[in-house]
Amino acid sequence: MAKAKVQTDKTPVELLTKKQAQAEHARLQTEIAGHDKRYYQQDRPSVSDAEYDALRKRYNAIEERFPELRTFESLSLKVGAAPSGKFKKVRHAVPMLSLDNAFAEQDVIDFVGRIRRFLKLADDEEIAFSAEPKIDGLSMSLRYEDGALVTAATRGDGAEGEDVTANIRTLHDVPQQLKGRNIPKVTEVRGEVYMTKADFLKLNERQKAAGEQPFANPRNSAAGSLRQKDPSITASRPLGFFAYAWGEISGEMPADTQTGMIKWFEHCGFTTNPLTKMCRSVEELIAFHRKIEEQRSHLDYDIDGVVYKVDRLDWQERLGFISRTPRWGIAHKFPAERATTVLKDIEIQVGRTGALTPVGKLEPVGVGGVIVQNVTLHNEDYIKGIGGKGEVLREGRDIRIGDTVIVQRAGDVIPQVVDVVIENRKKGSEPYLFPTKCPCHLHTKVVREETATGEEGSRARCTGEFACPFQKIQHLMLFVSRRAFDIEGLGEKQIELFYQEGWVKEPADIFTLEARNKALKLEEIEGYGETSVKNLFGAINERREIGLDRFIYALGIRHVGETTALALARGYGSWEAFHDACLKVAKGDEETIAEMDALDQIGETVIAAVAAYFGESHNRGIVERLTKQVKILDAEKPKKDSAIAGKTVVFTGALEKMTRDEAKAQAERLGAKAAGSVSKKTDYVVAGPGAGSKLTEAKKHNVTVLTEDEWLKLIS
Ligand code: IVH
Repeated sequence: MAKAKVQTDKTPVELLTKKQAQAEHARLQTEIAGHDKRYYQQDRPSVSDAEYDALRKRYNAIEERFPELRTFESLSLKVGAAPSGKFKKVRHAVPMLSLDNAFAEQDVIDFVGRIRRFLKLADDEEIAFSAEPKIDGLSMSLRYEDGALVTAATRGDGAEGEDVTANIRTLHDVPQQLKGRNIPKVTEVRGEVYMTKADFLKLNERQKAAGEQPFANPRNSAAGSLRQKDPSITASRPLGFFAYAWGEISGEMPADTQTGMIKWFEHCGFTTNPLTKMCRSVEELIAFHRKIEEQRSHLDYDIDGVVYKVDRLDWQERLGFISRTPRWGIAHKFPAERATTVLKDIEIQVGRTGALTPVGKLEPVGVGGVIVQNVTLHNEDYIKGIGGKGEVLREGRDIRIGDTVIVQRAGDVIPQVVDVVIENRKKGSEPYLFPTKCPCHLHTKVVREETATGEEGSRARCTGEFACPFQKIQHLMLFVSRRAFDIEGLGEKQIELFYQEGWVKEPADIFTLEARNKALKLEEIEGYGETSVKNLFGAINERREIGLDRFIYALGIRHVGETTALALARGYGSWEAFHDACLKVAKGDEETIAEMDALDQIGETVIAAVAAYFGESHNRGIVERLTKQVKILDAEKPKKDSAIAGKTVVFTGALEKMTRDEAKAQAERLGAKAAGSVSKKTDYVVAGPGAGSKLTEAKKHNVTVLTEDEWLKLIS
């Protein structure tokens, strides 16, 4: 992703010529649209909220000075970004609009002044406001018909959002049925879905443990959790909901003030924000802002400002909207929390999956009420200032030990380095050299992972696998898991305990536990007894024989999941053949690499992972000791004497008697190779109805084309 160019320090808008304004307006439009897309559709913002707001503010100011620049495409007429297309679209009965922002106290004074003038109120006439924290989550519209939840939709572009009903139904704060009597026929309740900071941290731990990219902040993790195709994933990630607004409400309104509506939401069964307060003057609004800002870092959820809304709904109606924001409400934002300090050191942390993360050790500094001592530096590229995940870092900066750095907590729980004070950089300071060896005691090789597209990724990983102490527990857990050795009674808790006690350091140790138990005396551990220990040993002994595919999967080679393990097992048939090939691949033997590459579903990524794994002497030792303990059963061998043994076949079009996967598996069992594309090496193309380009290719290469029935006859 390109680095964000945030240019807010340019010529003041008042001094721009029309030509300059035009160019600046167009540039900002593209830039803001890019940020919107990353924020709303990809849940990966590349600038802080404060920087984004500054861009928007400048954009709006240009349009205010040169109204002729405001076109149909103008961003000031749009909210957010169009839906991403993953979910069904929902048109909002009442558009979901946005709020204008206030940054300085003067902006709040102006806001109240505008309202007073518009309503022609006397200077001493009191205006009551509902003052609410501005929750940094995702806005959501919940439609109830006859009191029952029928649709939940995201904001999308304000006019059309995404249907996330199934996912929203998993939230405790969202009632399926509204409580109380006289519920309107149609009731649309709007509010914010959010994740608490504590749950966000827990989720990121899990993400890291699973080798997944952690989320940048609670807002993104809430968005990511909500955009799941499988609602059970959303259900496993706790999300909250605060109700604070509404869309369509049929018939008579249940209250005549904003605060009255909030009370009504509570009666209906919603959670509303407890910090909401009625304020009756500009002074009270500003005092509220100050008080909430003080509490901000102690709250369990992220907020990025406070919102003021005229309390009387009849006044709200009279005030109405200016383009896409109400005259009756404003968001008074908090400035980004920043501080300057010295980067004392860079420490490399190794996660349980072997990912290396550089952590900046700071001279402790207070940022928005929290003492910050560590910052994430993400990865090597971020430190070098060349992009990757480092969009928040000012362009062209690299980070060095001893540098004076500016750290920021802008809605993010994890502080980040956003800039380096170059003037303070010590003479003779050297760019940071990212380690090429793991900090574990084995000093195993560190490689940069490939991305899905095969390019070099930014994440560095230790190749130590089982041998690296940071990764051992993770590997042991995979080893005993259901799809691998499936040892009953050996779960996460037991592995953690056995590892910490030093009883099980590697897989082979599991199989020697019983023999060592005279000295270990597992039955004396709290919660264990004679019977459970006997059962455990029984379960272990039951697994002394294992199929080759499960065994390969249990080794925990990167990129070798169940399917790949099965493909390798089928390809080689026996452990001896597979092991021999792996050792040769690790030595770079081209013929063996080509053979492995020729196997269906095996490509460069897997081969590189196999080479890295078996290239490590520690891994080889672990595997060798393990194989002495277990008997590995040969894989179901492809039949050599079938009519299609050694042939390459491609399936295309619809098959009627079996699925394409079944047909492929059957072909492989009979010794054929099922390929994905047609080449001159293809022996048969089995074409069903709807076959397209593969059939054309077959004709081009003179390949025998069979119908499904002809194929079945051939293999019968
Ligand atoms: S009222 C017409 N109240 O801030 C706008 N919004 O820029 C009605 N937000 O889209 C929105 N807390 O996602 C309102 N207490 C609150 C809010 C709040 C957070 C978000 C919401 C909205 C955005 C406004």
